[in-house]
This record gives sequence, structure tokens and C-alpha cells, in this order.
Amino acid sequence: MAYDPAPFADAYGLRELPAPLGGGWSIVGLDSDRVRAALDLRLAHADGHRVLAFVERRLEGARCFAETSHLALSYYAEADVDHAAAADALRSLARRLREAEREAGDERASRALVVDPESATGRVRTLELRINRECNETCVFCNTPEGSETILDDREAILDALTREREAGYRDVTFTGREPTLDPALPDYLRAARQLRYETVRVQTNGTTFARREVLDALIDAGMNTAEISLHTLDRAAFRSLVGPPRLLDKTLAGLAHLAERAEDVRVHLTLVLTTLNLAHAPEVIARAADIHPRLFLITLSPMAPVGDGAGHLDLIPRPRALTEPLRAAFLEARSRRVMLRVPVRCGAPLCVMPAGTERFNAEIDNAPGRTLEASKAKPPQCARCVYEPRCSGLWRASLERWGDDVVDPVSPAAPPA
Ligand SMILES: C[S@@+](CC[C@H](N)C(=O)[O-])C[C@H]1O[C@@H](n2cnc3c(N)ncnc32)[C@H](O)[C@@H]1O
Repeated sequence: MAYDPAPFADAYGLRELPAPLGGGWSIVGLDSDRVRAALDLRLAHADGHRVLAFVERRLEGARCFAETSHLALSYYAEADVDHAAAADALRSLARRLREAEREAGDERASRALVVDPESATGRVRTLELRINRECNETCVFCNTPEGSETILDDREAILDALTREREAGYRDVTFTGREPTLDPALPDYLRAARQLRYETVRVQTNGTTFARREVLDALIDAGMNTAEISLHTLDRAAFRSLVGPPRLLDKTLAGLAHLAERAEDVRVHLTLVLTTLNLAHAPEVIARAADIHPRLFLITLSPMAPVGDGAGHLDLIPRPRALTEPLRAAFLEARSRRVMLRVPVRCGAPLCVMPAGTERFNAEIDNAPGRTLEASKAKPPQCARCVYEPRCSGLWRASLERWGDDVVDPVSPAAPPA
């Protein structure tokens, strides 16, 4: 879906499979990943071990498990994976791909993994850059702790990535972080993105710095044309427990008001992370945000994922069945305000818990049917009977270990969800 395996197979000499890698390993399968911007390489060892490796474009300066000049290699570190075997497999794979790059030459290798502009979903056209480590909030569920390896905070590496990834086919860019608006280099990155003709130049932010009108104006002048604002609750006690001092909530709301004044220049997208503490708050947040900014174009409802700091707060993760009624109320409010509501694919919810008639607003529906299970997720046995199983990316393994398997009901074709 994201990458066409054919140019990769041509450039890296993998048209004929199985292809031996040495050390007893072979590549036995090559497919486009059905969920993320990656290729799936199925590796098999003569002794029977199997590893699923992921090949993605490498960003200069970002760390990864194994790499070549152009590719980042990883595998799903699931509980049942033999890590020693996987590390061995990835090292053999990296050696073979590096040799192929030497033969193909830089020019050809750099064009082997390009974003498919015809891709069915918008997901893979967006380059996401986490540009800094500073943040003024202390979200207990934060998916990007200060030490996160996903942060690329070197100025030259970021400018270089903007150029290279635009050439590779990315059309949109999201600057995020920790809190990207605290990075004094952000206007430079925005200007570079505009010069490179990225179409959507998005800043994902808690919006607090936009309480100062001049901060917002400067970013719009530099090229930001979309702001994605995190706003999880209006309840000051819940805000304090989840995010930090409630005066920051006032700042986000003031920032939203300033964004409304610049509605001609910048589109606004709101994100709510749903936890057990704010699960019922979405309708109120949607109503207030739409009052302040009548031209909100999108709201994302994202059930908290157990990643980063969130992995230490499993008690805050809503159980899947508990999502259906709050989602129904949120969809009703959003419809009355004429705002589009979406549930994203990774930090999202399974299709089986969506209220009837809202399934198409869950990005899981866009997954190409097939092997869709995502990293750190699993499917309880009853999912084998579900009509959505071929598209489902699974439930967080950490949550299932805590709750047990009885948290979802399979949807049969004859009985769509309530
Ligand atoms: C780490 S934040 C960085 C940007 C900015 N500081 C903000 O608050 O929006 C990145 C995005 O992930 C969301 N997020 C953070 N932790 C999450 C989690 N555990 N599960 C789902 N979404 C999460 C945030 O709401 C935000 O949209």
C-alpha cells in the first residue's frame, strides 16, 4: 500500500526469492506493509526460525536497529520473538542490502523506496519530524519522553531530511516533538518546508505558546498552514492529573481563539487523547472548541496508547468496550457542529467497538486486508471470527495482559455493531 516492492526488488537484486543471506538465513517473502510506510521482508532460517523484518527509509541522524546507507531495518519485538535470532537475521539482511547498494550505486538505491503518490491513504504521504526535547507540559501518558529515540533534534539533519524526503515523494510534513513551538529553529524549518513546496506544513502542538499572538503570527508567516492542537479535557482537576497546571489549559484556549482570528491562513485540527479520566469529556471539549473556533476542520479521538510514559500508566487506558458510548456521544456532538471526527490507526480503537454507522471514520477501515497485526499488539482468539479481522491492527498486548482476552466481541457480517 505504501511502497511498491517492485523497484526495491529491482534495485536490491531481490526479484528471485528465496534469496540467501548467509548465516543460514534467506529472504522468502517481500510485500508492502499494510499499515505503515515500510516493506515487509519475511526471513527464514534453515533451522526453522522465522523473522518479519521491516525496511523503511532511513533518516540521517535517527537511530535504528540496523541500517544501510539508505534503509532503516527493524523487526517487531513481540513477546514470542527470539531476539537473538532476530538480531542475527537483521545483521545478515543489512550486509546483503549494503552489498546491493554498492553495486546499484547511491542514485539508484536512493530511489528504490519512494512513497507511492497513489497510495490509498494519506498516512504515508506525511513526513513526521520530532524536532526537540523540551516541553512545558507533563502529560502522564506522553508517547515521546525526553529521551525518546524517535527525536531528531539536529538542525542540519532536519533540514537535510526535509530535502531528501520531499524528493522521495513525501508531500506533507508534520513538525512535532515534545513541544515543537518551543524550538527557536522551528520558523527556519517551516520556511524550508514552504520553499520545498510541501503541501501541508503542520505543527503538532499543545497550543499554549499561541496564547501569545506574535508567536502564532511568526509561525504562520514562516509557512505553517495547519495546526494540530492537543486539547484533552476542560475539567481542571482532570487536566491537572493528566497534563499539568490548569493555567496551561487557559493558554491553549487563548491560543485557539488566536487561531480562529487567523482562520483564513491556518487550518486547525484538534486531538484528544482519551484516558479513563477524560473518557466522557469529548463532547464538552468539541462544543467549546467549536464555539471558540467555528472553522475547525478535523478532530482526532485517540485512545491512549501504552507507549513512552504511557507504558507506566496502564490504569489510564480505557477498556475497548468502554469506548463505544463515549464515542457515540462525541460523534453526535461533532455532527451537530459539522466537524469531521476521526479515530487514527495506531493510537486508535478497533473497528468492533465503533458505534454503528461510524466505522468509516476509523482509519483502520483503510488497512488493506491481510497481515495487518501491528507492533506490540495482539488479537484475542475470538477475533478470528470477526468480520473486521483482516483489516484490524490488533489490541495493545500490554493491555490484554492486564485485562485478559475478554475485552472485545467479534462482529459477524449478519450482526453489525450496536
Ligand atoms: C508527544 S505529543 C507532541 C506534540 C505536542 N507537545 C502536543 O501536545 O500535541 C504528540 C501527539 O501525540 C499525542 N499523544 C501523546 N501521548 C499519547 C498516547 N500515549 N497515546 C495517544 N496519543 C498520544 C498528543 O496528544 C499529540 O497529538
